[in-house]
Amino acid sequence: MAKITVRVDGVENVDDVEPRTLLVHYLRETLGKTGTVVGCDTSNCGACTVHLDGRSVKSCNVLAVQADGHEVTTIEGLAEDGELHPMQQAFHEHHALQCGYCTPGMIMQALDVLRENPRPDEREIRDGLEGNLCRCTGYQNIVKAVASVAESGAAAGGERK
Ligand code: FES
Ligand code: FES
Repeated sequence: MAKITVRVDGVENVDDVEPRTLLVHYLRETLGKTGTVVGCDTSNCGACTVHLDGRSVKSCNVLAVQADGHEVTTIEGLAEDGELHPMQQAFHEHHALQCGYCTPGMIMQALDVLRENPRPDEREIRDGLEGNLCRCTGYQNIVKAVASVAESGAAAGGERK
C-alpha cells in the first residue's frame, strides 16, 4: 500500500491505496465521489474526466498515486453554495444531455477547452471535445451549451474555488 495525500474538491484526503489503483476508482470507491463515472475503462470515452491541477485528465488513465500531492476537481466540486456552475447551468438550459452518463466528463472537458481558448469557434469546441463520447445527443446541444458559456465569459478562471 502507498500513502497518498490528495486535495479533492477542496478537501484534503490522506489514504492508503494499492499502487495499481486507478484515480477514478479511488475517487468513486474510497471517497464516494460517484459523480465521476466509468464508461469504458480504456481511456476512450472521457466519462471519467476530472481536473488534475486544473487540467483535464481521464481519471481511468491515471493512477491514484500519481495524484499524490496534487489537487483534483470533480464534477461534484463545481457547484457552489447550491448554485450550479455556469457550465452546468448551460448544459441544463440547452438540453445538452439525455441519459446524462457522459455529462460529468463532458462538462469537465468543456471547462478545459475554455481554459485553453476562452473564445473557441464551433470547430474548436468540437475538436476540444473529441475525446468525450456521447451516444445520445448528437453533440449539437453540447456544442451550443459550451458556446453560450464562451460568449458570456462565465467560465473564465475555470473552477470556482
Ligand atoms: S472511463 Fe475513462 S475514458 Fe472511458
Ligand atoms: S447524454 Fe447519454 S451519453 Fe451523452
